[in-house]
Formats: sequence, structure tokens, C-alpha cells
Amino acid sequence: MKFFADTAEIADIKELAATGLLDGVTTNPSLIMKSGRDFMEVTREICGIVDGPVSAEVVALDHAGMMREAEVLRKIADNVCIKVPLTIDGLQTCKALTSDGTMVNVTLCFSANQALLAAKAGATFVSPFVGRHDDNGFDGMELISDIRLIYDNYDFETEILVASVRHGLHVLQAAKIGADVMTAPPAVIKGLVKHVLTDKGIEGFMADWAKTGQSI
Ligand code: G3P
Repeated sequence: MKFFADTAEIADIKELAATGLLDGVTTNPSLIMKSGRDFMEVTREICGIVDGPVSAEVVALDHAGMMREAEVLRKIADNVCIKVPLTIDGLQTCKALTSDGTMVNVTLCFSANQALLAAKAGATFVSPFVGRHDDNGFDGMELISDIRLIYDNYDFETEILVASVRHGLHVLQAAKIGADVMTAPPAVIKGLVKHVLTDKGIEGFMADWAKTGQSI
């Protein structure tokens, strides 16, 4: 499963990229606002740090406007992935851009039928928001299972990018279902390494090693 960082914070992206475990980055207008940075400038910087896809979201709501914005965004770098909302205009834009070889992430997906439409529009990625789905009394992971089943039924190549990931259990469940990618805040990704028995084990080994009086 690929790991994307859901952030526009440069320091966090650099830290994760240095581990060699980061496959891409996703941003959205809220994350750009939170970073306090200029959209074009920060996106260019992120694209220079990671080799994988960097999602940059259009803000126009009509097809012509989305195409105009996508034209500006895709000039930033070769690894920019244009993010469009799951609307008719977004799907039309997705079809036009992917036919032209541009990567597209169709975002704000909350139903399996929406994901089916994104795949039919040739999306590179579809982003179902599991956390927000859970928040509203639905089962986010059931949505991921349904999309996996449908995509496998028809050999759709669109990658399932599990978004709105809030904790390690979301990551585990998404991996068990066979989602292609998950995007999560840096703290959630870093938290995956934590286990009390790992810490305790290291502590024990270090204490015993010190008693041997040896060094490597
Ligand atoms: O990138 C979109 C998505 O991951 C947002 O997550 O936590 O704001 O629902 P959240």
C-alpha cells in the first residue's frame, strides 16, 4: 500500500520523505489555508521534495474554470496530480485531463456509485473520505470494501486512495481490504511505528547490552 502525507507542512513532508516511506502528498484548500503559505509556491516546494504524485486541488466549480486552473497547476511540476471534486463538472474535467495523460485525483467521494463514476471517467485516484463518513454515522470501511469489489469486478485501474484517515485502525483496515493508497496526517503515519512492547524490548536489550561492557 502506498503512503501519502495529507498535509502542506514542509517540515513534516521533509521528515517523512527522509524515511524513504513516503510515496506522495495530498493537499486541499483547507490544508493550504492551515499552512499559511502561497498555494503555487508551497505546491512547487512539495513537488521538489517527493518524487510521487502531489495532489493540488482546483477551486473552480465549473468545467471550463477547472480546466483553466488545471492548466496553471500542471505547469508546476511533472508530479502534480490535479484534484477535482466528485461532481458532473469534476468528472468531465477528469475525463478530459486523463485522456491527455494528466494524473487526476477525484476527491470528496462518499458512495460506491460515485467511485464507479470516477473510474469510468478514467481517474488515476479516487478519494473516499472514511473519517468524515464515520463522523456522519456511516461505515467508512464498508465503503472501501464496496469500491474494491466493484473495481475488481471490472478491472478498473483507478487507485483507491483512502482519505480522511484519522487513526492506525483506519490504515490497518484499508490495508486488509486491499486499498491501493492511504493518505493521512503526518502524526498518524508516525504513530504507526509505536508499540509499547517495542519500546520495552529496546529498553531491556539496551540494559543487558550495557552489562556486557562490549561495543560494536
Ligand atoms: O485530503 C482530504 C482528507 O484527507 C481530509 O481529511 O480529516 O479533514 O476529514 P479530514
